Amino acid sequence: MKHRVYINASINAFRELQSLYPSLDLHFPLESEQGTPEELSREAMKSSAIVTLLSDTINRDFLEKHSHLKVIANFAVGFNNIDTDCAKDFGIPIGNTPNTLTHSTAETALTLLLMLSRKTNFSQRLVKGGHWKKWEPELFNGCDLRGKNFGIIGFGRIGREFSRMAYHLWGANILVYPRSSAQDLKTDFPYKVVSEEEFYLNIDVLSLHCPLTPETKSLINKEFIDNMKRPFFFINTARGQCHNEGDLYNGLRSNQILGVGLDVTDPEPMDKESPLLQRDDVVVLPHIGSATDRTRKEMAKQCLENIQAALESKPLPFPCLKS
Ligand code: NAP
Ligand code: GLV
Repeated sequence: MKHRVYINASINAFRELQSLYPSLDLHFPLESEQGTPEELSREAMKSSAIVTLLSDTINRDFLEKHSHLKVIANFAVGFNNIDTDCAKDFGIPIGNTPNTLTHSTAETALTLLLMLSRKTNFSQRLVKGGHWKKWEPELFNGCDLRGKNFGIIGFGRIGREFSRMAYHLWGANILVYPRSSAQDLKTDFPYKVVSEEEFYLNIDVLSLHCPLTPETKSLINKEFIDNMKRPFFFINTARGQCHNEGDLYNGLRSNQILGVGLDVTDPEPMDKESPLLQRDDVVVLPHIGSATDRTRKEMAKQCLENIQAALESKPLPFPCLKS
């Protein structure tokens, strides 16, 4: 027997995998790249399982209406778009895509940081505008990252991978924002979980890798920025709602922040009138953290593995695990 599975985006990686999952009958949006909420709801009604994107809101209303679903596979590792507590009440298992995107997302954080520290916005603007006239000894000087103090909020898979890269590339000192789960982990680089005070005192590069939760919502706001004692680069590849955009802008203007690198914004896409976009010390990417061919294929495979397991009444191989 074939099970109808609806995938709420036209993702080739799923099509390529179809033949490996003969018991799954994959369906995609008909009218556009991504299904509308109405299409998702309509298609979910007819399906045993669905694949959702991080931009699909799966709340109590949706779950109540679709309580027949055997599983929801989120095509992302973050699952703040899904009310997982409510899904549990309805007995709908929720899956995500851990590990496979860890390296690509950490690489994106690294890219943002290098673009800021080596002033690539400014230098590209001059070159592309035909304003670069000659080699100049000081005009484009950025700053070295060697030996800097990196502050990590969210020392999970991606936070640790980013730290590992920073340590091996630059001998970075890795200081972790206090969290009991970050203590005594086995890593191939040294790190220290410090008090909030020590964190605020020492950080040169702040990188966010925590999930979006009530605790981390707007965490990087005026108060946090004012607490930081050194000018710092701010990198966010976690979720846009973890920072306050206006406060970042003011932090840049007051030179408390040296540069802002965002792969995630609130909202997405970012308002094109945002004053942040006028600045050379801001780099904004369109949420490309995990956007590599290999990662996307593996994410699709993890979703299908989750779905197949659930439809065989087995535990999900990649269940969303709440912190
Ligand atoms: P993970 O392994 O679960 O790591 C998250 C870490 O954050 C955990 O160690 C968790 O600790 C910690 N944490 C939770 N709340 C915290 C808080 N209030 N303060 C400090 N640390 C806190 O997840 P991951 O795979 O690394 O992914 C992390 C996040 O990155 C995802 O949730 C997603 O939002 C984002 N992401 C973005 C992209 C992108 O394309 N830009 C790609 C992938 C992921 P506990 O275990 O103690 O809770
Ligand atoms: C991307 O943002 C993810 O959570 O996988």
